Amino acid sequence: MSHHADPARFRAAASRFSTGVTVVTSSDAEGAPVGMTANSFTTVSMQPPTVLVSLKRGRTWQAVSTTRRYAVNVLAADDVAIGRHFAGAAMAQGAPVLDACDGFFLLPQAIAQFGCEVVSTVEIADHTLFIGEVRCCHHQDGLPLAFYASRFRSGLGAEIRPGDAMAYPAEGWSV
Ligand SMILES: Cc1cc2nc3c(=O)[nH]c(=O)nc-3n(C[C@H](O)[C@H](O)[C@H](O)COP(=O)(O)O)c2cc1C
Repeated sequence: MSHHADPARFRAAASRFSTGVTVVTSSDAEGAPVGMTANSFTTVSMQPPTVLVSLKRGRTWQAVSTTRRYAVNVLAADDVAIGRHFAGAAMAQGAPVLDACDGFFLLPQAIAQFGCEVVSTVEIADHTLFIGEVRCCHHQDGLPLAFYASRFRSGLGAEIRPGDAMAYPAEGWSV
């Protein structure tokens, strides 16, 4: 039998990877918006612009599986209530969604929006990686909402400049 890390220890360790917070939206069988909070959003490649989200089977998973389309809305620090809403309530009803950008459901106050078409999927346990090519994207200035150690956080840390102790490579990043 293969050995797996203890789930509680894994959850605690994984929570130390700080992320932004997104709401992934799609359309249900009636064309109504559905959405869920997701921090598994990752950029994959620049050419073509490609991203992925890892979604557990549920209402939004069903919608993305059926339509093969989803939008990723990156939340601002002000929008913790939206992050909570979409983490608990599967229905997007009552949430401030806007139908724009070729029929993708976008949150107008998101600091970035990506409209994606699924080009590949990978099934892992009870999740699916939905790899999507980005058909349209927008952004606006604003402090991001963050998630770290299982808590929503607001704002950014101080910028680390190249001359500072923590130098970073000038080239070689995919995005
Ligand atoms: C900060 C945060 C990040 C989350 N990220 C994910 C994620 O990446 N994938 C996932 O399947 N669920 C994630 N969840 C849980 C879903 O938001 C939650 O299970 C949601 O109700 C599922 O909606 P659905 O019923 O439409 O599938 C996250 C929750 C929170 C609070």
